[in-house]
Amino acid sequence: MTVTTIGIAGAGIMGHGIAQAAATAGIDVVLHDIDERLLRKGIDAVEKRLRGSVEKGKLSGEEARRVLERIAPAPQITALEKADFIIEAIVEDVNVKKRLFEELDGLCPHATILASNTSSISITKIAAFTKRRDRVIGMHFFNPPPVMQLVEAVCGLETGEETLAAAITLGEKMGKKVIRINDSPGFAVNRILLPMINEAVFALMEGVASKEAIDRSMQLGANHPMGPLALADLIGLDTCLAILEVLHRELGDSKYRPCPLLRKMVDGGRLGRKSGRGFYEYC
Ligand code: 3HC
Repeated sequence: MTVTTIGIAGAGIMGHGIAQAAATAGIDVVLHDIDERLLRKGIDAVEKRLRGSVEKGKLSGEEARRVLERIAPAPQITALEKADFIIEAIVEDVNVKKRLFEELDGLCPHATILASNTSSISITKIAAFTKRRDRVIGMHFFNPPPVMQLVEAVCGLETGEETLAAAITLGEKMGKKVIRINDSPGFAVNRILLPMINEAVFALMEGVASKEAIDRSMQLGANHPMGPLALADLIGLDTCLAILEVLHRELGDSKYRPCPLLRKMVDGGRLGRKSGRGFYEYC
């Protein structure tokens, strides 16, 4: 299957980041979001990143312009009809995803593959919202998507081999390393990463050390590029909480229970970088 145009539903951090990675690899992108303000914000963020690359001499002005031109902003979902492969990157709410997948299933030709960038919702469950269960797959990117190398290709119960092959080909065309994972709560990375972040929040709550000391310790003692609390801010504390809740509920083990401090911060609207304030302040 040759993919020339991909569709992305959702222009948030992950959606516009995936769009940037794809457009940089020469792939045409239709970037859809029903929220026109968010769509504009996503395109602006890509533009700003590209400008930064030009300033660093990593990209010519002409190349940056071409990358940006490959991303077509689309406030109407019908614009996704012409894409060969669609990646959903909307809010982590199973009911909202259900509505979107039902709509895409009705809108797109049967050959179109529908992928989800969900961080923890079952791909088998998402596929069951459609009449093309063999053509639904997880393509789980990592934040920031233009930088991080991995894509987890998550196979649901009925994901077909051709669908997997197409996802691997697309991911590799975007310059990513694609690893096949079976559908299981949190897949591989988040199942391992989120308990570590949760433990860091417990350590902070219990006064083991200051947030700076916890983060610095993990950078220097475990060679992590950033500490777990700073990483939680990057991922979004609401997203961290949502993933932990899925792990806790689906795996039924108390070791995944979200730390009360994490819950409190989300309740208080301290969501990390996206809200300007999480464990740290962002201006
Ligand atoms: N978007 C796009 N590009 C970004 C970026 C962003 N948000 N942040 C940084 N970059 C780019 C910079 O432009 C720079 O590019 P260049 O090499 O072409 O100049 C490059 O990344 C390095 O950035 P910096 O020099 O500013 O900073 P660092 O070297 O400290 O790297 C980092 C920043 C890449 C974020 C690094 O700290 C890192 O790898 N952190 C860990 C990130 C991680 O673990 N992500 C996975 C989270 S889990 C997840 O996403 C799953 C989900 O389901 C929850």
